[in-house]
Amino acid sequence: MIAVKDLKKVYHQANREIRALDGVTLEVPDDSVHGVIGQSGAGKSTLVRCLALLDRPTSGTVEINGVDLAHVRSSDLRRARRRLGVVFQHANLFDSRTIADNVAYPLELAGVERRERAAKVTELLGLVGLGDAAAAHPAQLSGGQRQRVGIARALATDPDVLLCDEPTSALDPRTTDEILDLIADIKARLGLAVLVITHEMHVVKRICDSVSLLEAGLVVESGPLAGVVGRLGGRLSEMLLQLPPAAPLPATLGATLEVLDTTQPGDTAALTAAERHFDADLPVLAGTVEHLDGTTFSRMRVLVPPSLDPAVVVSHLKGLGAESTISAPSIDEVA
Ligand SMILES: Nc1ncnc2c1ncn2[C@@H]1O[C@H](COP(=O)(O)OP(=O)(O)OP(=O)(O)O)[C@@H](O)[C@H]1O
Ligand SMILES: [Mg+2]
Repeated sequence: MIAVKDLKKVYHQANREIRALDGVTLEVPDDSVHGVIGQSGAGKSTLVRCLALLDRPTSGTVEINGVDLAHVRSSDLRRARRRLGVVFQHANLFDSRTIADNVAYPLELAGVERRERAAKVTELLGLVGLGDAAAAHPAQLSGGQRQRVGIARALATDPDVLLCDEPTSALDPRTTDEILDLIADIKARLGLAVLVITHEMHVVKRICDSVSLLEAGLVVESGPLAGVVGRLGGRLSEMLLQLPPAAPLPATLGATLEVLDTTQPGDTAALTAAERHFDADLPVLAGTVEHLDGTTFSRMRVLVPPSLDPAVVVSHLKGLGAESTISAPSIDEVA
């Protein structure tokens, strides 16, 4: 379990104070993946560096299984770091070492004897699906395979938690999914608390149980995936259920139309029921369906015909479990 409380990191540059982290609080239970999403400069890497003990926070606490690591003495740092596995965007392997020796490196540092090291490395390479590559060198591997080595190395010291900073940002979409699935699989097998830093919503959708939105060093929204999706109008809800561009409408209709955004668990059942209730068509302009956290969610942008009062439609849809907002059709929807 990772528990971060009111974590702050202030950098001083010339006469300027940069509040890279301005009081971050979050929790990652064991056997779960928490995503931290944010734009460039939001403080994501600073957060990982502070959690990984590569940088000292200015204030606040970082507890791993109840032990505050933010305040360990410098002499205990190396031992404390063994409780944390860290995966970066690039695996940063030693080119001159074999794959097995790369994975063995943290064990050498920890003073583990040769035979025990070899057994652990074999186990780890099997875990990440590289049992055959022990004697190869990094240059002989693909980017995805190198990242697998990076993950095996991060797990070498049997850490309590896994911290991943943009683990798939350098990979193509298919390899990205393979690595994400591997991280989810390892989480489940080892019961780890995993924190994944990313700027891609795809990563959150595919493997995260919960998510925080980081902005200018602050968590501005956070919660389990199913919870944040249902928070209509919330930024994460918008990001998780992003609508594709809508088909253009005839300009002559534009002025008279009302458009409704409706979000619901499940598919379009509520919409179909509403159409039946009002005996009217609610044509879908754009829609998206996502499977998140074991639940299906859908968001539809529909046209409300002039014969219906949009507020009445919204209220009826609410009774059917769908949250909706009325919005004027945007310019590009009226061609
Ligand atoms: N060593 C440093 N000295 C001064 N300022 C820093 C330092 N490291 C980070 N910053 C500043 O802190 C803020 C957060 O940076 P950080 O690297 O954590 O962002 P990020 O969310 O990881 O961005 P990206 O998505 O581009 O990697 C930025 O304004 C950055 O310029
Ligand atoms: Mg970064």
